[in-house]
Amino acid sequence: MVFKMPQSYLSIEQAKEAGREGTVVDLRGWVYRTRGSNKLVFLVLRDSTGIIQCVGSKDDLGEEVFKRSKELFIESSVTLSGTVHKDERAPGGFELHLNRIEAVKAAEPFPITKDQSEEFLREKRHLWLRSRKMNAILKVRSTVTGAIHEFFRGRGYYEFTPPIFTPNACEGGSTLFEVKYYDDVIYLTQSWQLYAEAAIFSLERIYDVSPTFRAEKSKTSRHLSEFWMAEMEAAWMGYREAAKVAMDEVRFITERVLERNRADLELLEADPSRLERALSKEWPMITYTEALGLLRDRGGLEVEWGKDLRTIEEEKLMEHFDTPVVIIQYPKEVMAFYKPVEPDAEAPGPVARCFDMLAPEGYGEIVGGSERDTDMDSIKKALEKQGEKVENYDWYLDLRRYGSVPHSGYGLGVERLISWLCKLDNIKDAIPFPRTMTRTFP
Ligand code: 4AD
Ligand code: MG
Repeated sequence: MVFKMPQSYLSIEQAKEAGREGTVVDLRGWVYRTRGSNKLVFLVLRDSTGIIQCVGSKDDLGEEVFKRSKELFIESSVTLSGTVHKDERAPGGFELHLNRIEAVKAAEPFPITKDQSEEFLREKRHLWLRSRKMNAILKVRSTVTGAIHEFFRGRGYYEFTPPIFTPNACEGGSTLFEVKYYDDVIYLTQSWQLYAEAAIFSLERIYDVSPTFRAEKSKTSRHLSEFWMAEMEAAWMGYREAAKVAMDEVRFITERVLERNRADLELLEADPSRLERALSKEWPMITYTEALGLLRDRGGLEVEWGKDLRTIEEEKLMEHFDTPVVIIQYPKEVMAFYKPVEPDAEAPGPVARCFDMLAPEGYGEIVGGSERDTDMDSIKKALEKQGEKVENYDWYLDLRRYGSVPHSGYGLGVERLISWLCKLDNIKDAIPFPRTMTRTFP
């Protein structure tokens, strides 16, 4: 057939709007499910907005069309028309009584059938994107990234775009991806931070949402090799204020998702009331040293002061909270080279002016941030200690030579946040085409 593109098609969502009942509508989409009897064909139609059950009889469709429509495999693309009926028994509460159905392109038998493993679904991710689950997650993802732009622009931040190829490590050499670069070797970015620190001297308050790469050797449900980080950097700002901005940002995003994606959350069985509950409360800010105290007194877990918190400790700690929690002042020793010492802290050893935000329900760290050291000598010392060549960072040290000011910033893991909002079992489902140590396909 020749496909014509009339303007009068409605979306499935529009077909279910009040006042359409009893009217004839034209829809287009893909066959989501079919079954039939001798006299009736039942077909569930899918488009980007949802699904609707359609029923056609041999009498209404005519012998020929009836026969062909019963032979359509799922995921065939079709256009159809019918009358909208309210029907409590139909999924979504509506049913379309068909008077026309045409295949745009009949599909081959679809490889994804019921009860397949998560790994198989990832192998077929190019097709699995059409599932109701992925459709809902991708919609939430779109709200999340849109809300990040809205949040920062609403506060007068400029969007600033960093390079992706970089000559320097920001978060330690062990997770750098090397790329052959002409006759040389370069790295994929681990964070925009060093470039953002250069840009604040021009724009003062900036943000971005961009791809980030880490050669994570751990195969966990929280780590991707390619993920998106939403970062901010601000001149004249301390780490406590930056932590406050991070809480406001995560609250703002969560509100937007509740406004726009309630049905998606419900489809994902990610009860929206857990997010509403989190929004209704204050989010605690505690120190690392206090966190160790909580782990010891309430969790019976002894962690040696000075060790970074691992996944199991974060999980144990978050059993006591149902909101995100900010932890400040981690031990300076285990922190990246750019985090300065906090002299006004009560702690058994030197701590940094830094913070993490942990999500409840076992989702762990979603934000990492800090003030940035402005003291040349201490930066040089920290770099040397981490085995970096100080001369490679000389351009970065220029930022301390020419009018340095106190400044802070943080990075929000977009997929980590989506995992919590959507209550996902695995971070791989928070991104359309996951890249991990063991997956680069499709
Ligand atoms: O805590 P991180 O390593 O902080 C930085 O990179 C800072 N330079 C950011 C800044 O201050 N501008 O990473 C920030 C966040 C983490 O809290 C986590 O949510 C996420 O990025 N993240 C990952 N998400 C998925 N997969 C991974 N492998 C991740 N590594 C970090
Ligand atoms: Mg971190």
